[in-house]
Amino acid sequence: MSQQVSGVLSNLERVLLDADEIQARVAALGQTVGADFAGNELTVVVLLDGALFFVADLVRQIDLPVRLYSLTVSSYHGGMVSTGQVEMAPKFPFDLKGRHVLLVDDILDTGLTLSSVIDKLQEAGPPASLKTAVLLRKDRQREREVAADYVGFDIADEFVVGYGMDYQGHYRNLPCIGILNPS
Ligand code: XMP
Repeated sequence: MSQQVSGVLSNLERVLLDADEIQARVAALGQTVGADFAGNELTVVVLLDGALFFVADLVRQIDLPVRLYSLTVSSYHGGMVSTGQVEMAPKFPFDLKGRHVLLVDDILDTGLTLSSVIDKLQEAGPPASLKTAVLLRKDRQREREVAADYVGFDIADEFVVGYGMDYQGHYRNLPCIGILNPS
């Protein structure tokens, strides 16, 4: 729930999601994923850096054999607005052919990041199945339509920090997710 904050969190205008809410929702998502993929091995591909804490909490709730790979992808370059240019390694450094893949990102915003990674992943050799999980889905018009299969929270179109998400490299270590004070 939204609330005013002070002290160590005073750079936040408000907390959007507190640590308990995030932990409870991520645990529930992980259990749903585990049930949906029951009987299979799951290959999780996480997009860093923003989804670092999300994936760490999520995979520990999935009671299945899991392989975890990461890709570093960037479209914000430290600011508050997407540049529209998604930068990532030219080739996947791992083989996803025939695997059940869960692609994990922190936020679905313009849709450019997930759609670029999905295109590349399909080019590299089709997985047996491909699902996407995002912690946050922003309520806005997408530049590329992407269906997220697992969504933690739907939020308004505001810039958020905390729980892995940053502004100019700061605030990733906040256990909550909040809106920065404009000043
Ligand atoms: P797109 O626009 O490609 O965005 O769907 C996905 C990536 O953009 C970053 N992003 C944010 N990062 N606060 C952040 O710290 C935000 O409000 C925000 N919105 C988008 C994020 O890295 C995400 O993976």
